[in-house]
Amino acid sequence: MRFKDKHVIVTGGASGIGRAIFQLFAREGARVVVADLNVDSGNRVVEDVRAQGGIALFVRTDVGDPASIENLIAEAVAAFGPIDVAVSNAAITEQVSSALEISAGEWDRVFAINVRGSFLFCRSCAQNMMDNGVQGSIVTIGSLVARGGKTMAGAYPSSKAAVMQFTKNLAKCLAPMGIRVNCVSPGVVATEIYANIEKEMMMEPGAFAEWLVEESLKAGQILIPRAGQAEEIAAAVAFLASPEASYITAQNLSVDGGTDWCW
Ligand SMILES: NC(=O)c1ccc[n+]([C@@H]2O[C@H](COP(=O)([O-])OP(=O)(O)OC[C@H]3O[C@@H](n4cnc5c(N)ncnc54)[C@H](O)[C@@H]3O)[C@@H](O)[C@H]2O)c1
Repeated sequence: MRFKDKHVIVTGGASGIGRAIFQLFAREGARVVVADLNVDSGNRVVEDVRAQGGIALFVRTDVGDPASIENLIAEAVAAFGPIDVAVSNAAITEQVSSALEISAGEWDRVFAINVRGSFLFCRSCAQNMMDNGVQGSIVTIGSLVARGGKTMAGAYPSSKAAVMQFTKNLAKCLAPMGIRVNCVSPGVVATEIYANIEKEMMMEPGAFAEWLVEESLKAGQILIPRAGQAEEIAAAVAFLASPEASYITAQNLSVDGGTDWCW
C-alpha cells in the first residue's frame, strides 16, 4: 500500500500499459483517475476497480485539447484533492507507418497528442502540486524506438524522443519544489497501439509485437527473449513514483528486456 490515499492521475488508463498502471496504483491504495478518450473502456476499468473496493474516477479527456486537460484537472481535484502523482501515458501512432508517406497533418496530430498533450498535462499537474505544496512525482512514458530507427514510422519515434527530453527539462524546473520527474521507456508490449500497423500489414492482433521480438532476437538485440507485460512497465512506473525513488529524478528507465536498438 505504498500509495494509500494518494491522488494519482493516469492518462490513457483505459487500455494496455495505462490500464495496468491504473490497476497497480489502485491496488496499492491510491485514489486513481483514469483520463482517456475511450468512454466505454474508461468506465469499465473504473467499475472493475470499484468492484474490488478501490477508489477510482473516469474523466473523458482528450490530451490533444488543452481545454480538455484543464477540465480533467478541475474534475480530478474536485473529487480527490491535490494531485500527488501524475502519469502521462496516453499516446498514439500514425495511421501510415512509412516516414516517406506520412502527411504534415498526421505528423502534427501525433505531436499534438504525444508531445504537446503530455507536456501540458504534466505542467498542469505540476502547477497543482506547487499550488498545494505537494512534493509529488510525475512519470512520463517514452519508448525504446526513441533511441533507434528500426520501425518505418515517421512521427512516433520522434515524438517519444521529444517526451524524453521535456521530461528532463521539467525535472530541472521542478527540482527546487521537491517534485520529481522521470520517464519509463517500454520495449515491445502487445497492446492496441499496434492496431494501425497490424491493419496496414494485414496481421492478426498481437502479431506485430511478436514479429518485432522475433526480429530483435534474430539480430541479437534483446537479452530477455520475449515481449514485455504491461504489468512489468507498471511496476517501474510505481517504483519511480514511490518514496523508494526519493533520490531519483530526470532519469529514463528502459523496461525493454535489455534491448539495444541504437543502430
Ligand atoms: N505497447 C508498446 O509496445 C509500447 C512500447 C513503447 C512505448 N509505449 C508507450 O506506452 C504508452 C501506452 O501505450 P499502449 O501500448 O498501452 O497503447 P494503447 O493504445 O493500448 O493505449 C493508449 C490509450 O491512450 C488513449 N488515448 C489515445 N489518444 C488519447 C487522447 N488524445 N487523449 C486521451 N487518451 C488517449 C487510448 O484511448 C488508449 O486507452 C504510450 O505512451 C506508448 O507510446 C508502448
